[in-house]
This record gives sequence, C-alpha cells and structure tokens, in this order.
Amino acid sequence: MSELPHFSSRAFLAPMAGVSDPALRLICKNMGAGLVITELTSIHAIIAKEEQLKTQMKNITEFLEFSEKERPLSVQLFGSDLIALEKATKIVEPFFDMIDYNMGCPAPHITKQMAGGALLQNSDLTRQIFRTMVNSTTRPVSLKMRIGVSDSNKLLFKEIAKIAEQEGIKMITLHPRTVSQGYSGHSDWTMIKKLKEIVDVPVVGNGDITTPEIAKSMIEQTGCDYVMIGRGAMGNPFIFEQINDYLKYGVYKNYNFSDRLNAFLDYVSETSKYKIKFVNIKEQAIRFTKGTVGGGVLRKRLTTTRDIDELKKILVQTVSV
Ligand SMILES: Cc1cc2nc3c(=O)[nH]c(=O)nc-3n(C[C@H](O)[C@H](O)[C@H](O)COP(=O)(O)O)c2cc1C
Repeated sequence: MSELPHFSSRAFLAPMAGVSDPALRLICKNMGAGLVITELTSIHAIIAKEEQLKTQMKNITEFLEFSEKERPLSVQLFGSDLIALEKATKIVEPFFDMIDYNMGCPAPHITKQMAGGALLQNSDLTRQIFRTMVNSTTRPVSLKMRIGVSDSNKLLFKEIAKIAEQEGIKMITLHPRTVSQGYSGHSDWTMIKKLKEIVDVPVVGNGDITTPEIAKSMIEQTGCDYVMIGRGAMGNPFIFEQINDYLKYGVYKNYNFSDRLNAFLDYVSETSKYKIKFVNIKEQAIRFTKGTVGGGVLRKRLTTTRDIDELKKILVQTVSV
C-alpha cells in the first residue's frame, strides 16, 4: 500500500515556500514534472486549520489547495512534536499520494523549534519522527534533507539516511549544502553519490540544476534516480520538458520571451481557482520576465500593479506588441 506512485518523468519540482503554489505546480506538471510537492507546511497549522474548517463543514483542502490534475502529488510537513505529527499526517493522508518530511529548511524561525535542518543533529528524535509518520499512514513517506548543519558535521545525512531506510522511508531527496551554508557556494554532488551508495531506496538529487545538460550531468556523476529542480524552474516551467527530451533524445526545444509570457498568463488564469496571495503572483510575474530583453522596464511596471486585472492587462499588451 505504501509503495511509491508511478512518476512519469525523472525530473521533479522542488517544494518552494511562496513559489510552488497549486497554479505553478500544475503548469510544471503539464510541462512534464514527474512529481510536484507543496511548500513546507507546519503540522501545528494543519491541526489548527482542520479544527477551524471542521466547524464550517469544510476539510483541509481549503487550506492545502491543489487540483486532481497535479497527481501524483506530495505534501511536505515540518514540525517535530510527535503527537501533532501523527495527527497532521492522518489529516493530510486522504488527499495526497505521498507525504514528505522536511529536514532541510535553514530558516531560523523553523530551526529554533527543532524542525527543518536542525533535526539533522538529533538522530533519536528523527527516528521517532519517521516511525510516527510511517505508522500513521498507508501513504509512502519520503524525506528531504540537507547534508549537515555546518561544515564540521557535513556527513550527518549518512546516519539520518540509514535511520530513514530502517524506519520505512520510501525515497530520499538530498540538497547537498549544510544548513549554515544557506544557498551560498555550490551544492556538493559527491554527497548525493555517497547517499546513493549507502541506501537502497530511490535517491533524488537536488541542487543547482538550471539546464537539461546540468540535470544529465548530475544523474551521470551521482547515479541518482531522479532530479529535483527548484530555482531553475522559477519562471521557467519549460525546464521539465527540456530535461525529459534531453535525457531521451539528446535534444530539446528552446522557448522565447513570448512563450514565457504566455506560460505566465496560463499561470495567472489558474491562480483564480485558489487563494494565492497577490504579492506572490506578482513575484512570479517578475520571475517569468527575468533575463528577457525589455524585461527591466516591464518588471518596473509589474511591481506597481495593484490587482490581477491590471497585471494581466500589462502582460497581454506586452505579448501583443
Ligand atoms: C524560495 C524558496 C523556497 C523554498 N522552500 C522550500 C520548502 O518549502 N521546502 C523545502 O524542502 N525546500 C524549500 N526550498 C529549497 C528547495 O526545495 C531546494 O532544495 C533548493 O532551492 C535547492 O535546489 P535548487 O538549486 O534547484 O534551487 C526553497 C527554496 C527556495 C529558493
């Protein structure tokens, strides 16, 4: 029952807070992402929202919004209170195909609660977390982690991966930076190779993939089963089709500015189905128009827009120029 779902491609969209909303996830899915994942979500927020929504005869999908077309779809949880974790896992289980656990987030407000990347140093609690989740659901549980907290303990992931496998975690994603590294420097892909050598569950390599060529290099250098793309997919959902084609045929189609604008308009029309904050939509607009000729002027106009209609008008005008 807890087997992994079928993934239609080896390229996954990374969970990204404020970015991987249901509209972007669907656009990426339609462009060939094999798996999409919600942004990290607090187990305590899930429990509180569920109680509140129950009184209105609604369920948690009002808070964790998605569409059926995104499947297979994973929800990412964070938080280390075991009772809350069990409860939250049971709340989300009926709606998602997989449940991912976050052990990578470097944000201080998360690490301070002994969650996210901070957990890498607490192997006993980590074991209990995995056990609790796996015992609370029939869905496959996966793990996403960094390699360690700081340079002096950058091999912590090895012990955690072993524990994860022993406790029934079905897939492990590694972003090979330390927590204290944030996003600086380069991800160390040799760590993905090391992980692949010590576990039998599928390994998802993540970190600094921005082109199909780089995705292929990661697979070749590390032997990872899947790749996960975060920043490289921001404003660039085409990367999934490009990676899939490059891995299969050795060539891929290039997309231009107007393709990106059209993709963004598709994104905007999809957003109307969800409660996505306008400020996040505007930030997506800025990402979709990044690095394009005339993009600077356009982005300046976009930053001052106050509603979705104005935003759409500017973009439609730009496409038809
Ligand atoms: C804006 C932003 C938000 C992120 N939010 C999450 C998150 O919610 N959960 C998570 O596991 N990782 C999160 N990450 C990390 C990414 O999933 C990914 O591991 C990281 O960006 C490295 O991959 P990349 O080089 O392809 O971007 C976030 C990254 C960014 C840039």
